[in-house]
Amino acid sequence: MNSQTAPNRFARSEPFEVFTRPQRSRPARLAGLLIRRRVEIAVIVAGLLAWSWLTEHLPTWGAGLVLGVPTLAALAVPVSRRYLHRRVLAVLTRHRLRSVLVQRRVMNWTGNLPVLLWSRPTPVGERVWVLLRAGIDGVDIERNLAHIASGCFARDARISVTRRMTALVLVDVIRRDPLSGPAARPAAPRSAPGRPAGPAQRAHPEGSLIMRAIRRRPRPRSCPIDLAPTSIWDPIRLGIDENACSVDITLIYRNILLAGEPGAGKSGGLNRITAHAALATDCRLWLMDGKRVELGLWRRAAERFVGPDLAEAIDALGELQAEMDRRYDQLDTDGVRQIERQDWTDAIMLVIDELAYYSATAGDKKQRDQFSLLLRDIVARGRAAGIIAVAATQRPSHDIIPVSLRDLFGYRLAFRCTTETSSDIILGHGWHARGYDASTIDPEDRGVGWLLAEGGIPRRMRCTWLTDADIAAVVTAVTS
Ligand SMILES: Nc1ncnc2c1ncn2[C@@H]1O[C@H](COP(=O)(O)OP(=O)(O)OP(=O)(O)O)[C@@H](O)[C@H]1O
Ligand SMILES: [Mg+2]
Repeated sequence: MNSQTAPNRFARSEPFEVFTRPQRSRPARLAGLLIRRRVEIAVIVAGLLAWSWLTEHLPTWGAGLVLGVPTLAALAVPVSRRYLHRRVLAVLTRHRLRSVLVQRRVMNWTGNLPVLLWSRPTPVGERVWVLLRAGIDGVDIERNLAHIASGCFARDARISVTRRMTALVLVDVIRRDPLSGPAARPAAPRSAPGRPAGPAQRAHPEGSLIMRAIRRRPRPRSCPIDLAPTSIWDPIRLGIDENACSVDITLIYRNILLAGEPGAGKSGGLNRITAHAALATDCRLWLMDGKRVELGLWRRAAERFVGPDLAEAIDALGELQAEMDRRYDQLDTDGVRQIERQDWTDAIMLVIDELAYYSATAGDKKQRDQFSLLLRDIVARGRAAGIIAVAATQRPSHDIIPVSLRDLFGYRLAFRCTTETSSDIILGHGWHARGYDASTIDPEDRGVGWLLAEGGIPRRMRCTWLTDADIAAVVTAVTS
């Protein structure tokens, strides 16, 4: 033991605060307790009332059967058991959250805690509606999120403030991450929350007669997206976010840039967007793919396809620029500012995979500069003329995506990157410092990225993955 430091440990020279809780009257304390324990009280009272009514009309064993059998059945059937379990957790989370707020002194000057209005299960955990009293703000709770997560035995906690009323905040206690893990086909939005999809659902023993009979039947293949005709004006169901809610984006009048390290899931995201445009009856597809094989699967559904040929890509962009100018002439003649739904012309979606191949690798500098200039013009001016640019690149560096070009993309999707700087190049300067950093995405989580929409804050999501067979099904649906 260090004799020099021992006395200092107990010398209290720093300032300390004394908390005094206001003395509340007994009825007020009792009312608070009844409100907080309302669920438990309701269950006990309902049980006692049912028991006393049943024992008046039935023998005791009969009353026991009438109450016991449905309770046991509810616990035995997986659907109802899960339902009950999630409801119980929601109530427990409300109590645990209150304990954390008390222990962390998240209260106003007079010692009143925020009011925990109610809690509900969500697909990823529980959500508690919290009303902040005068003297407490959302930041007070945000500072304690790590304590809330551990106090509720959860993996994470998040807070969102209701814009219309800043005194009402939602605290999400996160128990599951629907985006993590090497899922080959992420679950469809909002599908069977908490229930593992695919093979994990099989409860029968492998060798049972039932299982063998089921396995012998050919399994119908289903595409993870709807093959019905759609419109480019409708939202594209891109994937799911970390709350297991679907992520929908509308690309008309907008452009999107996807970037990230090799194998991060860019082409997967491009394929999902291309599938929507292919199924849209009011959109034409122009595809450019430096690798040829990624977008090559869509060739039959496309109006124009360009492989790894820079001269041809420049030609195609020139044609598109001419088409854009022709559309602006028409808009000028009609006296309108942009094309509208049901207008005289279709939208055109230009999809470029491996942008760096055309803008930084192939051909000579003059050709590459010409390509970049044409692309910049189309991205900058194409929106009102119904020309949508969708580009993906592996190397998010300034020579491939200059800031002036990046800022023209209304949507940016940052898949896993190797550095914080690369993440900021895609999303914009300063996002990594605020906790939105694509370099922290787990390498196992293919297809996961931060989606930034104009003026919003990035949202972590996973794109719906289409297999080659799914793409073939879409192409067949649109060409037959
Ligand atoms: N959304 C997703 N869900 C599940 N798995 C995915 C998803 N996206 C990609 N993957 C997996 O990651 C692999 C690589 O994906 P993808 O080809 O889209 O990456 P990429 O970023 O385009 O790579 P590259 O830069 O080499 O072109 C896929 O073969 C697939 O197995
Ligand atoms: Mg790719």
